[in-house]
Amino acid sequence: MNFINVKTYDEMSRVAADIVIEQLKKKPDSVLGLATGSSPVGMYNLLVEANKNGEIDFSKVTTINLDEYFGLSGDNDQSYRYFMNDKLFNHVNINKANTYVPSGNSSDPEEECKAYDALIEKFGIDLQVLGVGRNGHIGFNEPDDVFSKGTHVTRLDESTIKANARFFENESDVPTMALTMGIESIMSAKKIILVANGDSKKPIIEKLRTCEVDPHIPVSILKNHPDATIIFSES
Ligand code: F6R
Repeated sequence: MNFINVKTYDEMSRVAADIVIEQLKKKPDSVLGLATGSSPVGMYNLLVEANKNGEIDFSKVTTINLDEYFGLSGDNDQSYRYFMNDKLFNHVNINKANTYVPSGNSSDPEEECKAYDALIEKFGIDLQVLGVGRNGHIGFNEPDDVFSKGTHVTRLDESTIKANARFFENESDVPTMALTMGIESIMSAKKIILVANGDSKKPIIEKLRTCEVDPHIPVSILKNHPDATIIFSES
């Protein structure tokens, strides 16, 4: 696991975007695993800019997102599908049919999880982008006694609900469950980058530098990955 430490959110976003840009130049039909949340927004802005100025092309790219709130449809403005359209897909030359986010309002969530795993298996992920929760979650794989394997429906930790309340009018509006890619699927990506910034993430990043691999700190699994890079900015 490599650590890149920078000072500002903008620098963190630049380092992360440059890794994605290099990936797309090397392999224009890359499969990108993508995350939502505040951490990668600056990186998405830079990818939009790079697409607009002709530096990168998304026409052959496939994307597979990590997670979606349970119970929200893709047109709900709090859904992760909506977020991805708004922050990236609507602004680049990607074919939306090649962008995958788990369906939050499927009538058969178990089937949806199985189908999502089949999709990950079929495409394979070249580069996975991650954020991290203050409690160490990646995707919505919350601290647990074991590492999860495939896509599953999960209950969000109380701390995750509190952290995500900033995106909603009231804390009671935050969905309590989600569909998430499993740890094993995340680890199957050929390359992984994780972006985290600021005082709220400093403790988990500090812990990650020294801790053992432990399912109670889900992000610690990245220590077992051959090509994982943590990009942390102080502010
Ligand atoms: C989002 C996701 C989450 C976030 C994490 C950090 O798709 O999988 O694990 O990456 O909750 O969120 P922010 O970046 O908002 O602090």
